[in-house]
Formats: sequence, C-alpha cells, structure tokens
Amino acid sequence: MSLFITFEGPEGSGKTTQCERLEQHLAGKHYDVLRTREPGGTPIGQQVRGVLFDQNNGAMTPEAEFLLFSASRAQLVREVIWPQLEKGGVVVCDRFFDSSLAYQGYGHRLEQGVLREVTRLATGGLQPDLTLLLDIAPEDGLRRRKQQSEQWNRLDAYELSFHTRARQGFLTLAQAEPGRWEVIDASQTSDAIFECVRVRVQRALAG
Ligand code: TYD
Repeated sequence: MSLFITFEGPEGSGKTTQCERLEQHLAGKHYDVLRTREPGGTPIGQQVRGVLFDQNNGAMTPEAEFLLFSASRAQLVREVIWPQLEKGGVVVCDRFFDSSLAYQGYGHRLEQGVLREVTRLATGGLQPDLTLLLDIAPEDGLRRRKQQSEQWNRLDAYELSFHTRARQGFLTLAQAEPGRWEVIDASQTSDAIFECVRVRVQRALAG
C-alpha cells in the first residue's frame, strides 16, 4: 500500500530530524521508503533551491518566490514522488504545498485561491495522505535555527510577524482538514515528538 506523508512546521521545529527518524524506523520494518524534501529533491529542484535561498536575492518578489517553489514541486512530484507511490512505496517529504499556502499565502498574503490553482498544476492534484505539523512558536524555532548558522537562509531573515502569520496559517490549514493533519507540539523532546509521529504513522499504515 502506498502512503504519502509530509512534515510541515516553522523553522527550527526539528522536522528534518523527525523525517530521518521516520525513514529509519520504516526501513527497519521493511517498508520501501523514500525520503525527500522541498525545495529540492531533484537536480533541477536543487538549482531552484539555490536561487530561492541566495542571500543576494533580496529583491525577489513574493510572486516569483511562490512560482519558484512551485517549479521545484512540479519537478519533484513527477520525477520522484509519483514513481515511488506508483510502485506501492512510502514517501516521507520534508515540506510540500502546505508550506506555500502558509508562507506565501498567510505570510506574504498572496491570494489563497490563486495559490491553490497553480498548486494543482504543479502537483497534478496530488495530496498527502498524512501531514504532520510540528508546531512551535517561531521565536523559539528561529532561535534554534540561528544556533545552526550554516543553515540560515534568505527566508529565515523575514521579519518575525511573517513567521508568526505562517505558523497561524499552518494551524488554520490543519483545523480545516483534521483527517489529513496531525498537530504535534514540537517544544517536546525529540523522543517524545517521535513517539507521536510513530503512533500516527502506524495508524495510517494500518488503515
Ligand atoms: P529549509 O532550509 O529547507 O529548512 P526547514 O524546512 O527546516 O525550515 O528551508 C525551507 C524554507 O523555505 C523555510 O523557510 C520555509 C520556506 N518555504 C516556503 O516559504 N514555501 C514553500 O513552499 C516551501 C516548500 C518552503
């Protein structure tokens, strides 16, 4: 049975660690699992990622930013995600279109309806089966993030109110589709977070 799992949340929420732990856990149980991320995950997506995160690109407009994320996504869906789901595997993806709805939609205040239309083109209508929201206050997440300064990128430098709107956006999206989303308190220890992840994924695999 194929399963498409995405992780979402503010920066510094520990998503990447949890994605790695979930991949290892599922591989240990002999699932055919593939971990990937956005933006990136393909050679073209990696190049787009470079443009998006380049600190010299301060002039990038929110519209251009959204279209670049969507371009990376269109490539990832067709090159990586669909093929893996079609062969009955599991995909664990670090961010997907909900990040665009939260950051470019709620953060930059681009119109949700238009974002969803373009997203439908980018994804071919593909939706995650399960989305795990690692929820954390952006001030706490950004503090963690700053400590790992090599990861600091152009988007992290947006003002705090932008990140706060994005976090609220994630929570609003989760509330609107409770069957797909699971909200997890990411201020807990990594082990406690992973236990929530494991239990929820187990349920999805069983059902
Ligand atoms: P990244 O370095 O991949 O780390 P993390 O996911 O751990 O935060 O940063 C991705 C950044 O891109 C992050 O600031 C969120 C942002 N983003 C968007 O604004 N829109 C999107 O559609 C996606 C996928 C990411």
